[in-house]
Amino acid sequence: MHMDPNKLVKRSVQAWFITAALGTWIFAFYIIFYYGPSGLFGNWEKWNETMPHGHETGDPMNNVAMVMHMILAVIILVGGPFQFIDHIRKKWGRFHRWNGRTYVISGLLLGVNGIFIVLYKGTISGMLGDISMSLNAILIILFASFTWNKAIEKDFNAHRKWSIRLFLVMSGVWFFRIGLMFWLLVNDGNPVWFDMESFSGPFLTGLGFGQYIGPLLIAEIYFLAESRKPSWIKIPFALFMFGITAITLVGIFAATVGLWLPRLQ
Ligand code: HEM
Repeated sequence: MHMDPNKLVKRSVQAWFITAALGTWIFAFYIIFYYGPSGLFGNWEKWNETMPHGHETGDPMNNVAMVMHMILAVIILVGGPFQFIDHIRKKWGRFHRWNGRTYVISGLLLGVNGIFIVLYKGTISGMLGDISMSLNAILIILFASFTWNKAIEKDFNAHRKWSIRLFLVMSGVWFFRIGLMFWLLVNDGNPVWFDMESFSGPFLTGLGFGQYIGPLLIAEIYFLAESRKPSWIKIPFALFMFGITAITLVGIFAATVGLWLPRLQ
């Protein structure tokens, strides 16, 4: 049996993408059903169970920002994966354009909203967490602008690459959650290289920056592997992506069973 290396690269990235899309929608499902009913009926104590500043009486700036955060998060998580499905892009161009505009605008708003939340209240991981989160938000804003511009210029090759980078930085907080739960699972629930109480330590700092730097690096190798040269990179890259897909799957499982489903009960 002989498999074309180009096809293998394509298949491996498709396998990862389908896995990531399903995991992204599970995260969206959790946000809708956890924050939705509690927000609509004013059960704000639920928001404070998961977030230190979820809802604060007498602080409308904080509360509006948090509600906006959840609405934008859901729009992005639900709509994002559709942009990368070939069939939809080819057959439903109008959907791709409108969903794309919504995705990019929501990304710009979420970037600004996220920076506001960090500056206003800070993250639970202290200054390093604040910096890695803010950098993530800045990348979202930049890549959203590039993706939009390249579509307008009809430079579809560049548009595709920037949209992949945008999807990856938008998925940063999702990578953080599945990464953290994967780490806890393989370490038998022990917080190795970080402290649960202060929610900080080398592992969490690494994950905070790695949540977008890692995927962006892999994307650059993918762009290299899918181009004609160098051809020796194709098969190792495809095998690597199948491995990453397996890890992603375990991380999604760990986050769903260990983090999201218990909160929905
Ligand atoms: C698509 C991107 C994003 C999604 C889907 C998202 C989703 C969420 C969710 C669901 C929570 C609640 C905690 C939980 O239930 O897991 C949360 C909290 C939070 N997010 Fe995001 N987020 C995104 C981007 C950002 C960005 C870019 C920043 C900062 C620059 C940010 C900063 C925060 C902070 C600080 C909290 C905790 C709020 C508090 O307790 O005070 N998020 N986010």
